[in-house]
Amino acid sequence: MSVLLTAGLVLSVNAAYAQGPGEAPNSNAASAFDNKIIKKISADNMYNTIALLSKEPRTAGTPGELKGAQYIKGQFEKYGYETELQPFAFYDVVRTNVSGVLEIGGQDLKPYVFSGSFSGEVTAEVVNAGKAILGTVPDAVKGKIALVERGDNTFVDKVKNVIEKGAVGVILYNNTGTANNVGVADPGQNIPAVTVTRAQGTTLAEQLKSGPVTAHLKVTGSGYKVGTSYNVIAKMKPNKNKDTGQIVMVGAHHDSVPGGPGANDDASGVSAVLELARVMGNMPIDTELRFVTFGSEEKGLLGSYHYASTLSDTEADKIVAHFQMDMIGSKDAGGDNKANGLIMYTIDGKKNLVTDLASAAGVRTAMGEAVPYGQLGRSDHQPFHELGIPAALFIHSPLEPWYHTPADTIDKIDKNKLQETAEIVGAAVY
Ligand code: BES
Ligand code: ZN
Repeated sequence: MSVLLTAGLVLSVNAAYAQGPGEAPNSNAASAFDNKIIKKISADNMYNTIALLSKEPRTAGTPGELKGAQYIKGQFEKYGYETELQPFAFYDVVRTNVSGVLEIGGQDLKPYVFSGSFSGEVTAEVVNAGKAILGTVPDAVKGKIALVERGDNTFVDKVKNVIEKGAVGVILYNNTGTANNVGVADPGQNIPAVTVTRAQGTTLAEQLKSGPVTAHLKVTGSGYKVGTSYNVIAKMKPNKNKDTGQIVMVGAHHDSVPGGPGANDDASGVSAVLELARVMGNMPIDTELRFVTFGSEEKGLLGSYHYASTLSDTEADKIVAHFQMDMIGSKDAGGDNKANGLIMYTIDGKKNLVTDLASAAGVRTAMGEAVPYGQLGRSDHQPFHELGIPAALFIHSPLEPWYHTPADTIDKIDKNKLQETAEIVGAAVY
């Protein structure tokens, strides 16, 4: 059905989503049902949580992350949840005093060292391996340094394909321009790998046509270490006699970028997760609630992918919605956009149960208007979408200038934005 909103907008939503039980149809006001949640939400609580968490960076794998995760777990416990600190291992790029030397004919080409390249030193002949497409790498690269052109497949695949043929080093050259600072390896691709400019690469390829060329390749200070990161999981089971058999999830990521206090990204999301957990902690429910804060989001959504990988098929099938809050409290985000810049992003750009529920909740709560949706990944809603679970990211657009900088601090947080977003997600979840 369609609900006609005061602004004249027609919002397509299922009536069951838009109203609490026993409520007059098409009401734009908060119901008694909504009020059970929204009246209890405190922006001051959220603000205080952010102030506490953003005292230091919470970079994945560091003591700062663990400290934050333990605090979050302690709060969930206080609110009566069954909690778990779920550790997982991840490969962390190490770059300390990185240096690369590529000597050919007594001259150093001053190469760029791949992110994650293995440190090591080899002196060997150079063999042209083309673009190192799978199945085209010559056997001659065995024990040699492979010269590889950028393009058509990923850096990771190029390195993998030449390692499989026994290469002991990689010189990648650019396919355009004058830059040499490209390339990224994968853990396990343990040979030195560097990049040179297109001009240097094509010159070397020409040289190889007229006879063998020997190179000395040395990389120091670059590689991988295994780190430990954590997800924090809180569960509340429904009343046994009144159980829909379904699970609703609310998430945020607690890790920050290195050197960034991550007040908005994403202590803000964590603060709303904790506040909603507090408010819903002692309410009668008929559906399991799961609040999760993920680690290593900034390393590539590692925590949420890990969490998703631990779900059995039956468990994943029970999860009917995942609400992800990431960067929900910046004073300086959102511009003049409608809904104060709040937007819900789905992976496929289509509306789903989460966006329907929350858009309708926007009308009934402090925001007073429907929340728009759009298409974007870049956060922990991705793995849930991949499992077929309706999921959306709640964020303000356009972004604040402090994103991923040391200036992402508590003084940039707006209590009103926190309140609005928590009310919307809270009312939608409830
Ligand atoms: N909070 C951001 C996601 C984000 C940023 C969404 C800006 C929309 C606009 C998140 O923490 C992040 O920085 N994600 C990474 C991607 C991830 C896969 C490492 C990003 O967007 O670079
Ligand atoms: Zn984030």
